[in-house]
Amino acid sequence: MSETQGLPATEEEPIGELALRTLAMPADTNPSGDIFGGWLMGQMDIAGGIAAGSRAGGRVATVAVDGFTFHKPVHVGDVVCCYTKILRTGRTSVTIRVQAWTLRRHQADVRIKVTEGNFTFVALDENGNKRLVPDH
Ligand SMILES: CC(C)(COP(=O)(O)OP(=O)(O)OC[C@H]1O[C@@H](n2cnc3c(N)ncnc32)[C@H](O)[C@@H]1OP(=O)(O)O)[C@@H](O)C(=O)NCCC(=O)NCCS
Repeated sequence: MSETQGLPATEEEPIGELALRTLAMPADTNPSGDIFGGWLMGQMDIAGGIAAGSRAGGRVATVAVDGFTFHKPVHVGDVVCCYTKILRTGRTSVTIRVQAWTLRRHQADVRIKVTEGNFTFVALDENGNKRLVPDH
C-alpha cells in the first residue's frame, strides 16, 4: 500500500491546501457531548476566509454557504484540519470549497472527512463596500 505523509492511502484525499488545523476541545461540545456543528462551521468559515482573503488581497465577508454536509461526528480530542480550494472567482466574490477532516484522538494515522461545504466571500473595501477581486 502506498502512503502519503505517513497516512495510509485512501480512495479520497483532501482537496486543495491545508488552511487551518486545530484541536476540538470540551468547551466546543453540544449537550450530547459531541462537537457542536456550529463550532465546526465557524472553523471552516475561518479557513475559507483565509483562502478568500488571500485571493481577494484583503478584507472579505461571508455572504453565503451552500451544499453543506456533516458526514461524520467530531469528538473531543480530534485534530480538525480544514482544507480549501478556490471553486470560482467572480467580479466581487470568491467561492471556496472547504472540507474538514479529522485525525481521531490517539489515532493520528486515521484521517476521516467529516464535513464539507461551499463558502462564498465578498471582497470589501475599508468602508465595508464590495470591491472588485484583483484579476477576476
Ligand atoms: C456582502 C454585501 C456587502 C454584498 O452586498 P450586495 O450589494 O447585496 O452584493 P451583490 O448582490 O452585488 O453580491 C455581491 C457578490 O456576492 C455574490 N452573492 C451574493 N449573494 C450570494 C449568494 N446567496 N450566493 C452566492 N453568491 C452570492 C454575488 O453573486 C456577487 O458576486 P460577483 O460580483 O462575483 O458576481 C452584503 O450582502 C453584506 O454586507 N452582507 C453581510 C456580510 C457579513 O457581514 N458577513 C458576515 C456574517 S456575520
